[in-house]
Amino acid sequence: FTPKVLAGRSVLITAGPTFEAIDPVRGITNRSSGKMGFAIAQACERAGARVTLVAGPVALPTPAGVERIDVQSAQAMLDAVLPRATGHEVFIATAAVADWRPAHCAEHKIKKDGSGQTPTLAFTENPDILATVAALPNPPYCVGFAAESEKLLEHAQAKRARKRIPLIVANLGPATFGQDDNALLLVDAEGARELPRAPKTELATQLVAELALRLNARTT
Ligand code: C5P
Repeated sequence: FTPKVLAGRSVLITAGPTFEAIDPVRGITNRSSGKMGFAIAQACERAGARVTLVAGPVALPTPAGVERIDVQSAQAMLDAVLPRATGHEVFIATAAVADWRPAHCAEHKIKKDGSGQTPTLAFTENPDILATVAALPNPPYCVGFAAESEKLLEHAQAKRARKRIPLIVANLGPATFGQDDNALLLVDAEGARELPRAPKTELATQLVAELALRLNARTT
C-alpha cells in the first residue's frame, strides 16, 4: 500500500543517458542505467501522480501507468521536455545528459582510408535542459540531481543556486551507475537531509514523500 501523497499532481521526469551521434552507426553516450529515474517515475505514479517520463536509450520496462517518450540526443530530450514542462507541476531531471555533442554528424559511416590517419572530433555544448526549464516564466517545481566526486554539499549548493532550482538531490557516492542501490543527500533552502543507502526503489519512495512535503508547504 502506497499513501497517495501526490494525488492530483503531475510530474515530468527525464531519465537515462543521452546518445550523441558521430555518424549513422557510431555515437557518444555514458553509463547511466536510468534505474533511479525509472524508480522515481514508478514511485510518483504509485503515489497518485500523472507521470510523463522522457527516457534516453535504456533497457528498462515502462512502469505501469506512466506515459513514456523515448529520445536519443540531448537536443531531442529538450524538444520533448520543453512543450510539456509547464503542463506539469513538478520537473525531476535525473537524466545524465551529455555535456557536449559532436559538432557535425557525418551523413555516411566514417571510413578508414588506409593511411593510418585518425579522425578528429569537434564538439558543441549541449543545452542544459534543467536550467532551461527552471528559467521558464511559470516553471514547474524543479528537482535536479548531482553526481559529485568531492565536496558534495558545497557543489550541490552551488549547483542549486546556479540552476535556480528549489531542490537538488546529490548522489552520496561511490559511483552508482548501473547499481541497484544508492544513498542520497537532499539539499534545499532549509538545509541538507540524508537518505541513507537503500535500494533505488526504496529511495524513490522516500524522495516522493519528501517532495510531497515541500509541495504541500508551498501551496498551503
Ligand atoms: O551540471 P550538471 O550536469 O552536473 O547538473 C546535473 C543536473 O542537471 C541533473 O539534474 C541533470 O539531469 C541536469 N542536466 C540537464 N541538462 C544538461 C545537463 C544536466 O538537464 N545538459
